[in-house]
Amino acid sequence: MSIQHNVSLKEFNTFGIDAKATYFISVSNKEELIEALQLPQFSKYFVLGGGSNMLLTGDMETPVLHINSKGKEVVAVNMRGDTIVEIQAGENWHEFVLWCIDNNLGGVENLSLIPGNVGTSPIQNIGAYGVELKDVFEGCKAIDIETQEEKTFTLSACNFGYRNSIFKNEAKGKYIITSVFFRLTSKNHQLNTSYGAIQQELESNNITAPTIKDVSDAVIAIRQRKLPDPKEIGNSGSFFKNPVIPKAEFDILQQKHENVPHYVVSDTEIKVPAGWLIEQCGFKGQRFGDAGVHKNQALVLVNYGDAKGAEILALAKKIQETVLEKFNIAIEAEVNVI
Ligand code: EPU
Repeated sequence: MSIQHNVSLKEFNTFGIDAKATYFISVSNKEELIEALQLPQFSKYFVLGGGSNMLLTGDMETPVLHINSKGKEVVAVNMRGDTIVEIQAGENWHEFVLWCIDNNLGGVENLSLIPGNVGTSPIQNIGAYGVELKDVFEGCKAIDIETQEEKTFTLSACNFGYRNSIFKNEAKGKYIITSVFFRLTSKNHQLNTSYGAIQQELESNNITAPTIKDVSDAVIAIRQRKLPDPKEIGNSGSFFKNPVIPKAEFDILQQKHENVPHYVVSDTEIKVPAGWLIEQCGFKGQRFGDAGVHKNQALVLVNYGDAKGAEILALAKKIQETVLEKFNIAIEAEVNVI
């Protein structure tokens, strides 16, 4: 365990916001985590994983607890040939995906290049290109912050939904996830290539019988074209969730905008891409100082260098107000505003 004072968090959040942590405590295993939680001088913590889904709007007076545990392990192979792996919370998500591909383990290839760490992936049930974490999730271990006891969460206990889980609701702020178990295929991989952009990418590379690596490469190529690399331009991926609206309201929207993209959620509900709504309001590619809206995907807010969290937040609010005014649709932030 290490404890440092007055540490810049710029390298620890993908938005690249230069906020300072008064105390920065880094732990690299469960024992160190428990030890940190028992430190008498601190009564509460801000838990930091990969820092890929948060917007820091000021310095952190609350001690920052950085989860930096490493380890990837095959723990079982079941009768069907599925492989169960246990991955420590501090592992980088994309490095885990590449490790799976190198070891011929299928299931997470569509989730290539998502920023962040494995330990925080269940919190918002990360998802992309037709696959969500819940599709490969077997369970996770967590430490109860109050009692420091270990608890295991099964798939059903996590109540996964669209960018949602128990860790954003009843269990919010109560547990620190220490490792995640995934159920992956080691043969007869079930590829999910139904998402239009993946199909087009495979076709344009003349790939008719894709492997898990081909799907991963396709997703990487699509993301690199569309989404900014946080190492170059600070961002947190989608800043907003795609709103789900009643079918009756969608029908009115479609009468005015024939080509509105949408996904049918149920007989009564339709999901509309927030990126499309924001683009229609004219924000795509706009820059206000160092805060901006990405030129290829309006759902992504960016920090061109020295934007303050408050500037990004002000832009987000302006976008929300404009979308509400123009479409009467409320869009909600996906990123945690701290
Ligand atoms: N669109 C626009 N303008 C834009 C952006 C999108 O018109 O600026 C339209 C597109 O033309 C398309 C539709 O919106 O018809 C959907 O766009 P896209 O396929 O890019 O997906 P999305 O709904 O905008 C979601 C996820 C992304 C994920 C992609 C691919 C959410 C909030 N976002 O975006 O996740 O990569 O699907 O599966 O659900 C993230 O969460 O950080 C993230 C990047």
